[in-house]
Amino acid sequence: MATMITLPRPQFFMILFLIVLLPSAYRCADPDPLQDLCVANLNASISVNGFPCKPLSEVKSDDFFFDGLSKEGNTTNVFGSNATEADVLAFPGLNTLGISMNRVDLAPGGLNPPHSHPRASQIGVIIKGKVLVGFVTTANVFYSKVLKAGDIFVIPRGLVHFELNVGKGKALFIPAFNSQLPGFVSLPLTLFASTPLIPNSVLTKAFQIDAKVISDIRIKLGS
Ligand SMILES: *[C@@H]1O[C@H](CO)[C@@H](O)[C@H](O)[C@H]1NC(C)=O
Ligand SMILES: *[C@@H]1O[C@H](CO)[C@@H](O)[C@H](O)[C@H]1NC(C)=O
Ligand SMILES: *[C@@H]1O[C@H](CO)[C@@H](O)[C@H](O)[C@H]1NC(C)=O
Repeated sequence: MATMITLPRPQFFMILFLIVLLPSAYRCADPDPLQDLCVANLNASISVNGFPCKPLSEVKSDDFFFDGLSKEGNTTNVFGSNATEADVLAFPGLNTLGISMNRVDLAPGGLNPPHSHPRASQIGVIIKGKVLVGFVTTANVFYSKVLKAGDIFVIPRGLVHFELNVGKGKALFIPAFNSQLPGFVSLPLTLFASTPLIPNSVLTKAFQIDAKVISDIRIKLGS
């Protein structure tokens, strides 16, 4: 019995090392950004990466509950998809917790177009339907799989990915993120419908197409 007690100890300390020491060493780097832009106000008396906290005396139960994901999103748009976001902007109770969640509705044939979340990895569960999920690594390798209800998937932080409804009916999945504000960079909208627009000379060269194709894409994306 004595050996059974002493033998797990090295493993115990190894696990303790991994859980406690590695993340704290990792945190010696700059903290992760929680917003897109933060132009320094060198005179400010406080500095935060995120949002200041409201006084404890004003905190209510409702700050920690959110029913915004209970409603189906409207998928009547060019992509046939709708992402409802429960990030810190919609659900202020998430502030500083480093987590958030969305619901994504896909009409039949609907596509959550190629996009990335610059501040978060994503883990998602398919609730309904059949969904082709794919992402591309920085080495330009494409990984994908068709998933059904109950299946889960992971998208490493920042990588470009998409979800396409390949079933007959509607599809629904719930992605969760390790950021209170993961950010959403839609490639079609970023490249072809920014404000102001990226010059045609950039896009004609980048995609080796003429300006007519670019204006067709812009019209279809409603910009
Ligand atoms: C900081 O204060 C100085 C002196 O009052 C002022 O000139 C400067 O514009 C301030 N900078 C910012 C970013 O507010
Ligand atoms: C998503 O659905 C919501 C709720 O129906 C709607 O207000 C919003 O405009 C939709 N977004 C898009 C991009 O269609
Ligand atoms: C969904 O969005 C479309 C386009 O904006 C709109 O015409 C339609 O009325 C909306 N449907 C619902 C149920 O809100």
